[in-house]
Amino acid sequence: MNERMEGEREDAQERQSVTRNYYSSRPKTFDTMLGGYTQVHDTDIQESNQLLQALFKQYNGKLGSAHCLELGCGIGRVTKNLLSRYFDRIDINDLLEDYCEQTRTLFENDENKIDRSFACSIGELELDKFPKYDLIWAQWVLGYLNGDDLVGLLRKLKVTLKKNGLIVIKDNCVANRQEAEFDPDDQYYVRTGEQFYDIAHRAGFTVVKDQCSKLKKVVRELLPIRIFVLAIK
Ligand SMILES: C[S@@+](CC[C@H](N)C(=O)[O-])C[C@H]1O[C@@H](n2cnc3c(N)ncnc32)[C@H](O)[C@@H]1O
Repeated sequence: MNERMEGEREDAQERQSVTRNYYSSRPKTFDTMLGGYTQVHDTDIQESNQLLQALFKQYNGKLGSAHCLELGCGIGRVTKNLLSRYFDRIDINDLLEDYCEQTRTLFENDENKIDRSFACSIGELELDKFPKYDLIWAQWVLGYLNGDDLVGLLRKLKVTLKKNGLIVIKDNCVANRQEAEFDPDDQYYVRTGEQFYDIAHRAGFTVVKDQCSKLKKVVRELLPIRIFVLAIK
């Protein structure tokens, strides 16, 4: 059995309730979504744009643009500024129902853009069990699950991905040769690169792209951020 990390609550429900309190006691702003570093928003979106363009080019027509799922969408920062430009329809998820609603209101003039909203933990998602999504975007959210639960989630997502579908993970990741960390404030696991690879492999995925984000160049105090693109093995 794994040793508990410092500040880690005993079970998923307890961790979730700390996380929920953390977000509900803060304003619904980009600053909250970005841990106090609003200044990284533009660069974040710009590099994610470049990534998506590169993926569409690389997959040369095999990566579809019909339907995307976004995990931990927050207040729709990425949904609106990135994903809505590439995908016809987007299913959204967030632990907080308010956030899902706020995201939906960003598309009042484009009512069909947001399809289903899943207001629940990523660990409790009940998704359609057929290949539906061309791409699944998970930015700064997978650290809310422990390793085994994350493997379980990825296995569940595998069934929902279309042939050639991809999962993009953009997340904090400790520097090489550093130990994994845990943020007790919002109960977030910050993993090592090796842990991400191990989790992906256990769930039946292969990492087809692994790149360092530029965000640390904008704000030096940030943890390193990595982008992993996963494809079904
Ligand atoms: C750091 S914010 C990032 C939001 C968004 N991805 C972005 O980049 O702007 C983390 C988000 O994950 C959500 N969240 C926290 N725990 C979650 C869970 N177990 N399942 C789904 N969403 C969760 C929070 O409510 C919050 O909106």
